[in-house]
Amino acid sequence: MSTGEDPAQQPIGKHMRTGPLKAGQRVQLTDYKGRKSTITLVEGGQWHTHQGVLDHHRLIGQPEGIVVENSGGYRYQVLRPLLNDYVLSMPRGATVVYPKDSAQIVQVADIFPGAHVLEAGVGSGALSISLLRAVGDAGTLNSYELREEFAEIARGNVEAFFGQPHPGWNIHLGDAAQKPLEIETPGGVDRVVLDMLAPWECLEAVRTVLAPGGVWVSYVASVTQLSRLTEAIRGSGGFTEPEAHETMLRTWHLDGLAVRPDHRMVAHTGFLLSARRLADDQLPLELKKREKVSEPSPEDKQAWPGTAEDAAQLTWDEEGLKTRTVSGKKARRAAATALKHAQAAEEVTPGE
Ligand SMILES: C[S@@+](CC[C@H](N)C(=O)[O-])C[C@H]1O[C@@H](n2cnc3c(N)ncnc32)[C@H](O)[C@@H]1O
Repeated sequence: MSTGEDPAQQPIGKHMRTGPLKAGQRVQLTDYKGRKSTITLVEGGQWHTHQGVLDHHRLIGQPEGIVVENSGGYRYQVLRPLLNDYVLSMPRGATVVYPKDSAQIVQVADIFPGAHVLEAGVGSGALSISLLRAVGDAGTLNSYELREEFAEIARGNVEAFFGQPHPGWNIHLGDAAQKPLEIETPGGVDRVVLDMLAPWECLEAVRTVLAPGGVWVSYVASVTQLSRLTEAIRGSGGFTEPEAHETMLRTWHLDGLAVRPDHRMVAHTGFLLSARRLADDQLPLELKKREKVSEPSPEDKQAWPGTAEDAAQLTWDEEGLKTRTVSGKKARRAAATALKHAQAAEEVTPGE
């Protein structure tokens, strides 16, 4: 399909995913134990391991799916990383949204080609790639991020993935609770996707910029965040009844008669909470199925942030939520690697 196709007419990033392997592209090498290593192809480059040396020129110009041997006779299966593989091997500062959750976010948030989507925070850009793929070349994604070094990591990762800057993508540095009010048109955003510590702080901004009927999806890691955001959305009155779910992915071992679930799995990543914007001045329907909640006991209140006032007393930061804090130094190193990958990818010539 890519042979003879006008590169200018190709959808963004297609030249990075089809046709023979080229210098500047990432490839994934899998050994006989199933171990995966990802390298960037370079003209004249070599990949050294303690099993031997593999010359990049053995791969450049070849189709995906070949099996190559290094100088030590060690064999590797060669494939371009899929988006699922790419996000797990790319440089990162903040924790990335896992592919199983990105897939759900795209579906639950109903991201469609041509949509205008608001995202915060950007982190390492894993979710941004899925959102950009879903909005396509005609869509736009405005991503808001507090930390400049994370924005740089994300920029490098996204450009390395598509092989060029995505024309519909803009990163805005600033607080997602405020900045969208300066950038977006009121009611002009089709979909909002938040992955940040305190998404309830963005309630007013989301309410202002999200179009009637628009979908807001938040990805949160802990039940305390889920609870607080749910009550904030309910209390605001401008949205439908929030809905929550989590996705558990169990992989399977397939070996002769031993066909069974794998012994290990990633048991917890996060929860998705979604709600839709009502038209202005409309109140949400009181859902009958909601049980009347009894007044919590003093013990319950002590154990749980039962009211907005209780919750406000808690420290909603990385320390309080026991999430991983990344030092500026580590983030700057990841940003430099991501930008190097992006520069290599931008040298890849579209077409064959
Ligand atoms: C877990 S990371 C996001 C990961 C990202 N979704 C990915 O898949 O790579 C959370 C990000 O939110 C950013 N953040 C936290 N509060 C924010 C706020 N009020 N406005 C903008 N960004 C914020 C953090 O700096 C961090 O980069």
